[in-house]
Amino acid sequence: MMDLLLSLDLATDLDTRDLGARLAKVVQAGDCLALRGNLGAGKTTLARGLICAFLGADTEVPSPTFTLVQRYQPDLDEQPSAPELLHFDLYRLEDPEDIWELGWEELDEVISLVEWPDKAGPHLSPRHLDIEIISVGDHRRAHLSASPTSNWKSRLHDF
Ligand SMILES: Nc1ncnc2c1ncn2[C@@H]1O[C@H](COP(=O)(O)OP(=O)(O)OP(=O)(O)O)[C@@H](O)[C@H]1O
Ligand SMILES: [Mg+2]
Repeated sequence: MMDLLLSLDLATDLDTRDLGARLAKVVQAGDCLALRGNLGAGKTTLARGLICAFLGADTEVPSPTFTLVQRYQPDLDEQPSAPELLHFDLYRLEDPEDIWELGWEELDEVISLVEWPDKAGPHLSPRHLDIEIISVGDHRRAHLSASPTSNWKSRLHDF
């Protein structure tokens, strides 16, 4: 069961990036953000906003379409205790069991962003934050939901 926590308008791709940047301020090690939406909805754009806010605006964030996962290491001189960040695009994952070859066992220690999370099957954490991007004309809307047993509701209080 998931509770809808927030619905936000994303008028342009800058708003999508900005939502990612705002989420960067609240995420911590162990968090999983599931990014849902059709092909081209803006999932990677949101991930880019979060990763650039977390690691610096000049960070290159390619879509992990073919690599399935892209790893980001914080600068440990600047942020000594910052966790690693893993950005997955599971669209091409054929079998949920194949995620163990991609570093999925590290999810309790890292921040993870997961495009096409249903491909993880039973391995998607029930405590993830669910972010669905829906097209409305040429605009988008984001729906953020989470399990009532997670603490996302209080963490997104100021959004
Ligand atoms: N709020 C928005 N309004 C209009 N266009 C947007 C918005 N957010 C993102 N876009 C644009 O949508 C296009 C696709 O974005 P993106 O690659 O992030 O989608 P995706 O969901 O990751 O796609 P895929 O399913 O292929 O991984 C990009 O050109 C991006 O700039
Ligand atoms: Mg993408």
